[in-house]
Amino acid sequence: MSDDKKIIFSGMQPSGLITLGNYLGALNNWTKLQDEYNCLYCIVDMHAITVRQNPAQLRKASRDVLMQYIASGLDPEKNIIYYQSHVSAHAELSWVLNCYTYMGELSRMTQFKEKSQKHADNINSGLFTYPVLMASDILLYQTDLVPVGEDQRQHLEITRDIAMRFNGIYGDVFKVPEAYISKVGAKVMALQQPEKKMSKSDENKNNTIALMDEPSIIMSKFKKAVTDSDNEVRFSDDKPGVSNLLSIYSAVTGITIPEAEKEFANVGYGNFKTSVGEAVVARLEPLQKRVADLEKNKDYLDSIIKINGEKANHLANKTLRKVHKKIGFPPRV
Ligand code: TYM
Repeated sequence: MSDDKKIIFSGMQPSGLITLGNYLGALNNWTKLQDEYNCLYCIVDMHAITVRQNPAQLRKASRDVLMQYIASGLDPEKNIIYYQSHVSAHAELSWVLNCYTYMGELSRMTQFKEKSQKHADNINSGLFTYPVLMASDILLYQTDLVPVGEDQRQHLEITRDIAMRFNGIYGDVFKVPEAYISKVGAKVMALQQPEKKMSKSDENKNNTIALMDEPSIIMSKFKKAVTDSDNEVRFSDDKPGVSNLLSIYSAVTGITIPEAEKEFANVGYGNFKTSVGEAVVARLEPLQKRVADLEKNKDYLDSIIKINGEKANHLANKTLRKVHKKIGFPPRV
């Protein structure tokens, strides 16, 4: 890593199929940052077990996320791409920071409230302390910027609060990171219920586009997307379905929303939805082909994980050692 570049950290849970929301809100932006910054992109498998996972599926999903990171354009030579569970410093720092985080702060987290409603039979303490592990992920690498979708803003704020609290007691141990949230694509909504966000764990598969969905499936999901009854392609708060489709179109083509509104001014919803579907297919097809190639290359993937895991361990342990020293743990001799 070069010393003169700022540090970026972000991650994704291998808790299901990566969606178009994950891609537009996060992954697609990551690929644009890799030349200008020193970047770490983690596959946060430890976060994924806050919800019960099938072991074989978790292993496969983690590998799938790795391939989709690379297929999206993240260069594993330029970026440190690794599995969270391979770097034990994440769990170790998380324990320490748990002791500097208040129950009251954690109880206010929207994602905790939502997930505990959804998994009422498994409200485990990992789900509750999830944001502390996320703060540890970020703070371990002295991160400057964290590119995420809008739904992670609150977790970034608590990360900053924890860092500032710790620094207030022990001096400048952690860099206080900033969220990096792009304007377009930061909140992709569910296709059938555009009032809620597109989510990996949605049971209604027509709500989500998975990055690996076949073109015919993508087209059929877009054709079924909910719009409204006034047949006017216009971006507006009272037109959530149409606005979501316009945002997706803008994010995948690079055409601005006002330009897209012009393009579809006299076009019915049927054709509009077909055009959005085609634009998404055009964007995802090359990525899907690259995943198919990577699938054949197990040794290459294994070597990436090994080399990058070592790099991440090295960097993370530097911060962890500093933390241990500051809080008064005896030195290792
Ligand atoms: P996760 O796995 O839910 O989502 C990964 C990224 O995708 C973004 N995202 C979306 N963006 C736009 N529209 C949507 N509908 C949408 N759904 C998801 C998320 O904002 C995220 O950027 N807690 C994190 C993972 C994490 C992390 C970290 C992120 C763990 N440690 C440290 C950054 C830094 C999560 O559950 O993301």
